[in-house]
Amino acid sequence: MDKLLVQGGVPLHGSVKANGSKNATLPIMAAALLSAEPVIIEGVPDLMDVRTMAAVLQALGASVRFDPVDGIMNISAEVLRGNEPPLQLVQQMRASFLVLGPLLARCGRVRLSLPGGCAIGIRPVDLHLKGLTAMGAHFSMVNGCIEGETDGLKGARIYLDYPSVGATENIISAAVLARGTTILENAATEPEIVDLANFLNSMGALISGAGTTSIRVEGVSRLTGTRYKVIPDRIEAGTLLLAGIITGGEVIVENVLSDHLKPLLAKLRETGAEVEELGHSAIRAGRSGLLRAVDLKTLPYPGFPTDLQPQFMALLATCLGTGVITETVFENRFRHVEGLSCMGAQIQVDGRHAIVHGVSALTGAPVCASDLRGGAALLLAALGARGQTVISDPYHLWRGYYRLVERLQELGAKVKRVYPEPEQLISTGG
Ligand code: EPZ
Repeated sequence: MDKLLVQGGVPLHGSVKANGSKNATLPIMAAALLSAEPVIIEGVPDLMDVRTMAAVLQALGASVRFDPVDGIMNISAEVLRGNEPPLQLVQQMRASFLVLGPLLARCGRVRLSLPGGCAIGIRPVDLHLKGLTAMGAHFSMVNGCIEGETDGLKGARIYLDYPSVGATENIISAAVLARGTTILENAATEPEIVDLANFLNSMGALISGAGTTSIRVEGVSRLTGTRYKVIPDRIEAGTLLLAGIITGGEVIVENVLSDHLKPLLAKLRETGAEVEELGHSAIRAGRSGLLRAVDLKTLPYPGFPTDLQPQFMALLATCLGTGVITETVFENRFRHVEGLSCMGAQIQVDGRHAIVHGVSALTGAPVCASDLRGGAALLLAALGARGQTVISDPYHLWRGYYRLVERLQELGAKVKRVYPEPEQLISTGG
C-alpha cells in the first residue's frame, strides 16, 4: 500500500482551482437513470467514488463514457437491464444508495444491499425508506438486502424527521416521475440539493423550492436528455483554503461559489485569519500571526459543514487558547483525533464534543487516515507541523480529492506518494 510522506513547515503560496463537487456529481449521475435520453455532465471530478458510481450505472445497463481530462461524462440509460447493483460496489460507497429512488421510478423494482462508505457513524437509511413508502413503494429486508417495489409512485406529503441530504435526493429523484405532487418538508437545503434540482429541471422536471426546507415536485411523464455543469466543490475549496492558513502561507482558491463557503469563512475570520472574497468566484486566505481558538458546531446547511470539521480541528490544534467542537451530524466523526494527538495535539473527546487546547506547534509522526475528511485533516496538520509525517492508508483521500498531492506540490508543499520497496512487501507478507 502507498503512503504519503509530508515534510511540514513549508508555507503554501499560489492559486489553485476547485474541481466540480463530488457530492453534487454523485446524485446527478444516479438521477441520469431517470431518462432514456443521453445526459452530458460537465465538471465531473476524476475520483474513486465517481468511478464507483459509473460502475454501478454500467452494471445496471447504462452506457457511461468519461473523459477525465475534460471532466465530461456521457450517460445513456436508454435501456436498463437490471435493478440490482452488485453488492461489492454498493458496499464500497454509501452514495450508491442514491440509485434507489431513480430505479423505483424507472423500473418499479429495486434490490440493494445496505450501503458502505466512510466509517463516521451508524448512518441508517430509514428516512429514505419512509419517504418512498409514503409515495407507494413497499420495502422488505431479504438476506441483508433491501428489496423495494411499487406499481407506480404517486405524489405525497412527506415530513423528514431530520433534513438528510441523501433522503432528500432520493425522494426528489423518485418524485419527478411520480403521479401528482410531492411536498417534502424539513428537506435538506445543501447547495448539492439545489444542483440536483437544477439538473432535473433542465431535463423537464418541475421542482420548486430546492434550497429551502419545503420542496415541491409536480410529477411529469418523462424526462429528456440534457447537458449540465456541476457546481464547484465547496469542501475541496475549504480544505485548500485551510491548507494555506495552517502553513502560514497565502492561497487563492478559484472556481468557488463563495456563498456556499459562508460558514467556514465566518469561522476563519473569527480566528483572526485573513480571508478575502475576490468577487464571487475566488477566495484568498492566509494569516499574519497566531490565530485565536473558537468554538464550532456542525449543523445541516447553512450551518458549519461536518465535512470540514476534521480539517478545521487541525487548524484549531495550534490556535491560541481552547476551542470546543460539537459534532451534531454524525456520531462518530472524531476518528482523526488519534492521529492529531500522535502529532502532539491536545484534544479530549467527550461524546459529541472535542475540546481542543491549542499547542504552539504540532510535530511530524506516523499516522493513519481513518476516513476521507479525517485523512484530509491529518494531511493539513502534517503540512503545518515541524518535521516529517508518514500517512498510511491515503487511499481514503482519493475518494474525494482529485490530484490532491500534485496540486499541493504546485503550491509549494513537500508532499509525495511513496510506495513500499519489493523487499518490504515480501517481509510484511509472512
Ligand atoms: C451526505 O451524506 C454527504 N455524502 C456526506 O459527505 C455529508 O457528510 C453528509 O451528507 C452531511 O452533509 C454525499 O453527498 C454523497 P445525511 P448523507 O443523510 O446523505 C442520519 C463526505 O465526506 N440519517 O444527511 O449520507 C445520518 O445517520 C461525505 O464527502 C438517518 O438517521 O448524509 C446522519 O447522522 C461523508 N436516517 C445524518 O442523518 C437516514 O435515513 C446526516 O446524514 C438518513 C440519514
